[in-house]
Amino acid sequence: MEFLQVSHLDKRKKSDALILPLWRGKKGGEWAVDLSHSLTSHLSLPLESGDFKGKEGETLCLYIKDQPEKRVILLGLGSKEKITVETLRRSYGSLIKACLSRQLEALNLVVPQVKNFSDELLIKGISEGLLLANYSVDRYKHPDPEELQPPSLIKKITLISPHKEVLAVADKVLAICSGVYVARDLVNGNADDVTPQYLESVARKLAKEFPKIKLTLFTKKQLEKERMDLLLAVNRGSALDPAFIIMEYRGNPKSKDHTVIVGKGITYDTGGLNIKTVGMETMKCDMGGGAVCFGTLMAICKLKLKVNLTVIIPSTENCVDAKSFKPGDVYPSYLGKTVEMTNSDAEGRLILADGLAYAVKNLHPTRLIDFATLTGGIDIALGSEATGLMCNNDELAKGLIKAGEESAERLWRMPLYEEYKDKLKSDIADIKSWNGRSATSCVAAIFLQEFTGNIPWAHFDIASTAYLSEPKKYLPKYGTGVGVRLMVEFLENLSQKA
Ligand code: BES
Ligand code: ZN
Ligand code: ZN
Repeated sequence: MEFLQVSHLDKRKKSDALILPLWRGKKGGEWAVDLSHSLTSHLSLPLESGDFKGKEGETLCLYIKDQPEKRVILLGLGSKEKITVETLRRSYGSLIKACLSRQLEALNLVVPQVKNFSDELLIKGISEGLLLANYSVDRYKHPDPEELQPPSLIKKITLISPHKEVLAVADKVLAICSGVYVARDLVNGNADDVTPQYLESVARKLAKEFPKIKLTLFTKKQLEKERMDLLLAVNRGSALDPAFIIMEYRGNPKSKDHTVIVGKGITYDTGGLNIKTVGMETMKCDMGGGAVCFGTLMAICKLKLKVNLTVIIPSTENCVDAKSFKPGDVYPSYLGKTVEMTNSDAEGRLILADGLAYAVKNLHPTRLIDFATLTGGIDIALGSEATGLMCNNDELAKGLIKAGEESAERLWRMPLYEEYKDKLKSDIADIKSWNGRSATSCVAAIFLQEFTGNIPWAHFDIASTAYLSEPKKYLPKYGTGVGVRLMVEFLENLSQKA
């Protein structure tokens, strides 16, 4: 059974609920569709009474007879004049929450008619709201025996529209959201399950499913030979081997344009010998940057985008052990620069430094992008309202910020001032890894910049957006998969320019 379908109002099949959209009206809701009299004549009551105002995300469940559904759910879309893709996402996200709390599984959803708004954006907003909200982490929790039915996800959505083309748009959103789910699942799994070795197995599976992917996996021995000494240093405290995963996708072999994304793959961050005293319990999220790589690549493969993309995931745990690297010690990097490791909890920048330097030396990137749950400081600066962006190239930043607006994965650009470099001067090594809390997110980015060889480069600090401790709008609690929709949007824009 296909998850998404399209049908006419009079040909629709049985389902759990018929969803009818309404605008916010002065007295009550106003229909956002022309419906047959036989249907609306049953339903005029709440509108005249003013009980249902059509506010954004407002829902009201009614029960009807003689229809393929026993329920009608009225859905408020807010003011007709103020509609945007984001108001649609929010309204349809609320709808999903209302349906999940009623344990509904199949919906017939009447698509609103909106003048002066493109059909493509309309279906994009609706589908993203529906699909981003239709997710839960249920693998570790038994169903409540007191509940009549176990909680479940929506399993089928039929879009009721006279335009068959809506399905193609919705299917595209589904392909992208399946990448978002991959990223969320990786973040939400137990750290003892989602290990560097597990990430390797996911990479193998992806390469098998999409033969266009060329997969390279480095063993620990090869990493030693390659002199990835920073990744190996962080790995010293772990009982598990590190991984270095490279997946290459050539969707436009004629072009030399090549985007490389490096994702932080710390499968658990204890802090190392500078052990964390607060917040360790969320540190299975520390491979969120790597998760963006997997999710984006999968979506790009499904969409068969004409772009050249390589993703690199350096991965290890950061653990406490007699063998753990010692704060104050100096290690060489893949690039050759030596690093005074001033704090073992600043491990992300170390493994990324080797990943970025590897990309510069071996992959000829046109642009280099990294995703990392890098600093607690970005939460102090921006909270979960925006991902921090640091970028050495204005044109690249512009394209990324545009993609951020289109995907509602908002970005806020932070500075890379020359003066920050002084903070990383070391007396014993070429650079130090950390120098206290002042401008911590920017200084972390300055450290990374030293390994990017002056290529157009963007760093995303997703420490406050990759993982939520409370649900937010259409995003569920825990892993958000942030970054995947942003990157797909960005790469799609690139493919259209080429
Ligand atoms: N993984 C953390 C950053 C983080 C914090 C991610 C909160 C998600 C939520 C990173 O490795 C880290 O520990 N950063 C420290 C570095 C410092 C103490 C050396 C930080 O920024 O607080
Ligand atoms: Zn850390
Ligand atoms: Zn970390």
